[in-house]
Amino acid sequence: MTIKAAVEFAQENQGRFVEELKALLRIPSVSTAPEHAGDVRLAAEFVAAELKRIGMENVRLIETATAERPGGHPLVYADWLKAGLGADGKAKPTVLCYGHYDVQPAEPLDEWLSPPFEPTERNGNLYARGAVDDKGQMWMHVKALESLMVAGGGTLPVNVRVIVEGEEEVGGEGIAHFVRAHGDQLQADVALVSDTEMFAPDLPTLCVGLRGMIYTEIEARGARTDLHSGMYGGAAPNPFVALAQVIAQLKDAEGKILIPGFYDKVAKPTEAELKAWKALPFDEEHYRETEVGSVALTGEPGYSVLERTWSRPTLDVHGMPGGFIGAGAKTVIPAKAVAKVSMRLVPDMTPAEAFAQYKAYVELLTPKGIVLEVRMIHSGDPIVVSTDNVYVKAATDAMHTVFGKETVFVRGGGSIPIVGDFVRELTIPTVMMGFGLPDDNLHAPNEKFHLANFYRGIESIVRFLSGVGA
Ligand code: BES
Ligand code: MN
Ligand code: MN
Repeated sequence: MTIKAAVEFAQENQGRFVEELKALLRIPSVSTAPEHAGDVRLAAEFVAAELKRIGMENVRLIETATAERPGGHPLVYADWLKAGLGADGKAKPTVLCYGHYDVQPAEPLDEWLSPPFEPTERNGNLYARGAVDDKGQMWMHVKALESLMVAGGGTLPVNVRVIVEGEEEVGGEGIAHFVRAHGDQLQADVALVSDTEMFAPDLPTLCVGLRGMIYTEIEARGARTDLHSGMYGGAAPNPFVALAQVIAQLKDAEGKILIPGFYDKVAKPTEAELKAWKALPFDEEHYRETEVGSVALTGEPGYSVLERTWSRPTLDVHGMPGGFIGAGAKTVIPAKAVAKVSMRLVPDMTPAEAFAQYKAYVELLTPKGIVLEVRMIHSGDPIVVSTDNVYVKAATDAMHTVFGKETVFVRGGGSIPIVGDFVRELTIPTVMMGFGLPDDNLHAPNEKFHLANFYRGIESIVRFLSGVGA
């Protein structure tokens, strides 16, 4: 039987699969850094070459750079659409496998126990930037396809299209344009996304909702040029103090966002969801201690941690570039300061409305002597996907075989902007079957992928694709 042969092939080739993944992880495809544009392209070419080698067809890079977006990174596309008819005489379904080959910056480098772009195995984990987010998880798709191809003698049990983007970590604008302009080229019955986490080790998980986001910068300008703080302090406006004053009025001490109208469109999770979340094995104190590592947790009173991170909007500050940040002391009033501020959105908020509300409020707060500019860097829609379809059933069946447990349904606090477009533009359901762990350090130093989950993920995907094709 083909499934058994594919699973065996995947088991026998685990070592090689990991070595290949390491080679991909050595390419520092940091999408936000212009100096890494060449590496981003190398990673795309690496993925394309492997898709070709395993027998996928129509493999190509799709350029996304345009005159308006000169920095756009390529998409990798491949398909295999020869599955033919099923036993019922109908055409077999098409699965759209999605992943991203770009990664977040690795800084701060001195906190990594092994260098971020020198993948290293320790205690059954593979450490590297992108190990789990998302190169490792995207590689599970490729390796599941390879295993099925070999077992099927050059055929797959189902039609497959593959789309891998290189801009997910910077908002995914390139793929969004492509889906809107050429959605027909990605036509499928279901999208499979492996870019989320399991709720706990050994607990098969489907993610059924993601937060959206708006990522912004506020630029504050005061004096024409940097000034001696002794000579001008007392007369010249300080853009850092101005930003601090603005930021302090965005949220109250309990974590409620103060932007007028911000919560108007927030939809409550259903009673069934809230009940299911309460039943999840979640220990708040353990989470505080091991995952967050702070002396206390913060956030809106009256909502559990899972509600706060999955179904409530939030606002965070990521950095304030500018001024003097070197060692020692420099007495200067900087002419300019920037704050990078993002907000996570939940259904039924929209990025456009949230940004308009935020911008108007920030402008209203502008301190005397300061000129503020509020700009959007990127955005993505929040989404909740349906669970009432045969593909979700195929996914839970596949994971039941691999993990021997019932799947839990969770939401994720993070964002994957294109998922909203799969649902709205391609009008197909999305199955978010991810194999990360809560302590995998996504976006942080010492990111890892638990290798047992890499293998279980490949087997789950082999079984899922076979199940959809059956
Ligand atoms: N894979 C993550 C998103 C994620 C992580 C979803 C964990 C659910 C659980 C993705 O790569 C990511 O980090 N996205 C960015 C998107 C943003 C830059 C538009 C994010 O959430 O910050
Ligand atoms: Mn990701
Ligand atoms: Mn990410």
